Amino acid sequence: MKKILLISGSLRRQSFNTQMAREAAKLLEGRARVKLLDFSALPYMNQDREQPVPEVVARVRMEVQSADGLWFFTPEYNYSYPGVLKNMLDWMSRPVKPGETATAVAGKKAAICAAAGRSAGAGARAKLSELLQAIKVDLMAEPQLGVVLDREAFTSDALSLTDEQRAELAEQADAFLSYLGE
Ligand SMILES: Cc1cc2nc3c(=O)[nH]c(=O)nc-3n(C[C@H](O)[C@H](O)[C@H](O)COP(=O)(O)O)c2cc1C
Repeated sequence: MKKILLISGSLRRQSFNTQMAREAAKLLEGRARVKLLDFSALPYMNQDREQPVPEVVARVRMEVQSADGLWFFTPEYNYSYPGVLKNMLDWMSRPVKPGETATAVAGKKAAICAAAGRSAGAGARAKLSELLQAIKVDLMAEPQLGVVLDREAFTSDALSLTDEQRAELAEQADAFLSYLGE
């Protein structure tokens, strides 16, 4: 079975994107090995801190490296993806071993989903796609998934997907599994 790492771009406890990632995990049950990446303890990228590699950086790199696929769930912050995601990907874009060129992310297959406001995270998805391509991630272009959170979700903090949204998430899960060669 392929190993899929779910990556939520939100550190918020009740994050809708993390809730989406958990829904995705349920959809993948029995078809892939799935884990939600915890990168909340990463320090800010600082070239003074690259060597020796901080333990938490090494651990996150290892988790990324050992995955067959990365499935991103990103909020939209000011028409882009959150800074924490950029910080994590900046760490991942640097060589695993000094002097070498191989990184933890280059060549990894990835998919993007966004849960956000009225724009369905279109800005976040476009900019995250651009970043992933720049760091040589092999991004599944279609289908991308953008979920518009309704007013009720925002007041209750509980993600409630419509049947259509759930079907779209299932469709993305199927597409990603075949992209990974399952
Ligand atoms: C700094 C900031 C900027 C935001 N900018 C946007 C935006 O440009 N477009 C949008 O749809 N929602 C925007 N939002 C709302 C988030 O999409 C919304 O809070 C969402 O629930 C965050 O994802 P999460 O539930 O996974 O934490 C913004 C929220 C924050 C905190």
